[in-house]
This record gives sequence, structure tokens and C-alpha cells, in this order.
Amino acid sequence: MLEPMLPENPFQDPLRFEPRTPECAIVIFGASGDLAKRKLMPALYRLAYDRRLSAGFAVIGVSRTPLSDEQYREKMLAAVREFSEDTKIDDEVWGAFARGLFYVAGDAGDPALYGRLGQKLAEVEQARSTGGNVLFYLSLQPSQYAPAALGLGAAGLGKGNGWRRLVVEKPFGHDLASARELSAQIHQVFGESDVYRIDHYLGKETVQNILAVRFGNGIFEPLWNRRYVNHVQITGAESIGVEGRGAYYQEAGALADMIQNHLLQVMATIAMEPAASFRAASVRDERSKLLRSMRPMTAEEIRTNAVPGQYGPARVGGQDLPGFRQEPGVDPRSRTDTYAAATFFVENWRWAGVPFYLRTGKRLPKRVTEIAIQFNAAPLAIFDGEGGDRPPNLLILRIQPEEGISLKFLSKRPGAGIELRPVSMDFNYGSSFGERSPSAYETLLLDAIAGDATLYTRQDMVEASWAVVEPIQNAWREAAPDFPNYAAGTWGPAAADEMLARRGHAWRRP
Ligand code: BG6
Repeated sequence: MLEPMLPENPFQDPLRFEPRTPECAIVIFGASGDLAKRKLMPALYRLAYDRRLSAGFAVIGVSRTPLSDEQYREKMLAAVREFSEDTKIDDEVWGAFARGLFYVAGDAGDPALYGRLGQKLAEVEQARSTGGNVLFYLSLQPSQYAPAALGLGAAGLGKGNGWRRLVVEKPFGHDLASARELSAQIHQVFGESDVYRIDHYLGKETVQNILAVRFGNGIFEPLWNRRYVNHVQITGAESIGVEGRGAYYQEAGALADMIQNHLLQVMATIAMEPAASFRAASVRDERSKLLRSMRPMTAEEIRTNAVPGQYGPARVGGQDLPGFRQEPGVDPRSRTDTYAAATFFVENWRWAGVPFYLRTGKRLPKRVTEIAIQFNAAPLAIFDGEGGDRPPNLLILRIQPEEGISLKFLSKRPGAGIELRPVSMDFNYGSSFGERSPSAYETLLLDAIAGDATLYTRQDMVEASWAVVEPIQNAWREAAPDFPNYAAGTWGPAAADEMLARRGHAWRRP
């Protein structure tokens, strides 16, 4: 559905010029997979709908199912109809877009595929004037990333008369050594500056806005350090379970699925130093420096500063929810974490001693991603009748599903005497801008086509995150955790509350 007409809005600029992307072909490996159908195709269609794609644009879908170009177009139309949440299917726009969709069947591990792909690319380049520019997008099983990159290299497709770039989905490796090895294999074909490791959280409007708020304003930065910040909480809660992804998830677990990438990237965005400019190299250098300032925990620290959880069955809202071990594809004795919480410290001058509490989990009471920055209390209680329990000053950056920022502080309640009450100053994206936020994949695809890697992760960042996460992962694999340790529909294991309580803190209930 097209977004409704909104009242006139002072922030909206109807004449804003949105440039079109350079011409190119996008080759999507895993073209009939879930990600391609749910996210990539709707994002590309939306870019077409917004007239952001140049006339010299084509998509070549690659996957094992044999399909003709026409059948692929029909499948993609069905996917866009099903998964385009807020974009009208306009016959004319779809028709023009669909003429640029092509298909090649084959297995990423089969060298013969790349000969056929090369042939198709040459035809498409001629027919669609894509200028020889190609963005290869690996939306495959992780075990297929290296074979695909090497297959492209062996067929000579890693180079050409235009640019060649490689987008790699997460997970990038399953530990530090495998991440390094994967980079080394990819680098046989693509230089690091042509490798775009995707972390879709960095493409979210509200995550990008963290940098705008921090570095576009003068009021926040002076407070953004150990002198004024008491601690930071980053929550990535999901109410869904593993949704048919039991087999993948059982191997990954919450720590690797969400903290190693998304939440650590969010943390790096919150805590990094100001970049010299908003150019890819500067911003990525600062994110990387921040991640490298996080010291991996010792075994003793892991015991007190990291908490794994796994949900058990429960009856929630009149519905019986299975435990993780009862989910399809999951080992009934699985020791996989579906919840992970950890206390991290950043060893630099700005943050030394400030706890960053990160938590994520499946089957929590609601879907919410937010960052809560808790400031130190006022040094004295000068108002009569004030108890010791003053609610803290909080700056809450809400990433999703609500998008906005709130500042919580105390105010005088009207009336005689002075009685303090917590109040909130709220900014809400929807009502302030009245504009649709592009999806993370729209932003990231546009950036990759334009050659802007600012919102993509780099080899050193991925390695730094694995260096922090791997010891925890190993410790949890060695221990025999007492799972399940939280009921579906609750806020996770009691041990996660105790972790904060030891420092006199408590998780916010978002
Ligand atoms: C993915 C994880 O990367 O991110 C999923 O593999 C998770 O398990 C998802 O559900 C969350 O993304 P979002 O954008 O819905 O918060």
C-alpha cells in the first residue's frame, strides 16, 4: 500500500533531488531463498518505484531451481506482492523493472555455473547497457561463500571492463579463525575495498541517526563519556521464536547471531570517537578502533559478566508456545543459547569503567531494539522529602519498532512545595518527518551500487568482534548449562538480572 498523504510538514522537501544509481548488474546468488524474496527483491523494487535505479540496471538471479527468465520474474512478482509492506505494485513500474530481471540456474559449488553466468552477464551488458559494472550478492549458505567467490575468480568474473564488487551476508565466519580464512579466500579474487560485508543493522535509519545525533549537535558529546554516563544498556529483544530456522540457529545461537554483529556494531556506533569526516574510511576506522578497545574477557570474567539462556515451553496469551528444544529441526538436548547477555567494557579514556550491558533473545515479551544511556545522578538531594530512589536521567534511542528518542528527567509536580516526578521529552520519527524510512536493505543496496562502504563492516571490525565473542562462545560450549532457564514470553534468565544487580543496576523494561 502506498503511504497515506500526510499533513504538510515543515521538514519535508518535495523538490529534494534523489540521484539515480550508476548503471550495473546485480547478481543475486541464492535468488529463490528467503532473504532474496523477503528483503532484497522488495528493496530493489522500491528503489525502482522511487526512480532511484538507472535505466542501465539488471538483476541476474542465480539458484539451483531450474527457471526461465519469465518464471523468475513471476516468482519475484509474487515475492514483492507478499513482502513489500508499504509499496504499491504499480504495473508500469513493475513492467519496466521486470524487463531487467534474468535468471541462471546452477549450484554455487559447480564450476560450470560460472561459464553460463559469464555468458549471461555479457548478454545482459549488451542488452541493458550496464557498463560492465557488477555487484555480486552472496545470499547463500555460509559454507558456499568461499566456493562462490573462488568460482567467480576462476571464471575471470572478478574483473571486467567495469567495477566488480562482492556483498557477503552474515554470518561472516563462525569464529575468529574461520572469519580470517574466509577473508583470505575472498581476497584471492576481490580486494578488501571491493568486499561489502553486510550488517543490516547499520543500514537502519535509526542506527544511522545515532551518528547524526551525536555529531550533528553540540549538546550531547560533552556528556558522552565516563564522567557523566553511568552505564549503557543495549537491548535487541524479539518475541518470535526461531521460525523454521531451527537447524541454522542451533549452530549459531543468540551470541553469534545477534551480538557478534548487530549489537556490537550498534555499540560501536554509540561509543566510537568522532570521525574526521563522514567518509567510509574515517567512520569505519573509528568503529574498528572502538571494537579493538574491547578486551576479551578472562574465563573468570565470563562466569560473572556473560549469561546464556534458552527458552522453555510456556503458555502465553492463551497460546501454548514450544520450548526451543521442541522446535522443528532442533536437537531435543540442544545446548544452544537463544538468549545472551554480557557486560562489556571499553578500555579507552572516554569509557574506562563504564559498563555496556548487551542483551538479546528470542521469545522475549516483545520486539524492541533500543539503547538506554543512563547518566549519573545529581550529586545532592536538596529537595525536601526526596527519597534515596530518584529515577535516573536516561537518554533512550529507540531503533525499532518505534523509532525515536526520549530524554527522561525529573520535573516539579505542579502545586505547593517541590515534589519531583519523572517526565519525558520525546522525538518521534514518524510524526516529526512524516516520511517513510527506507528499509535497511534499500539503503545498503544503494550504497553498494554507489561504491560507498561506510555502512558495511570491514575485515578488521569482523575480526575484532569475533575476538570479543569467541571466548564467551567457547566457555558456553564447554559448560553444561542448565537449560531451559527462561520461559517463553519472559525477559530471560534470572542470572541476567543478577549480573546487573551486582553493580547496583537493573535492566530497563522497555
Ligand atoms: C538476523 C538474525 O540477522 O537479524 C535473526 O539472523 C534476527 O535471527 C534478525 O531475527 C533481526 O533483524 P531485525 O531487523 O528484524 O531486527
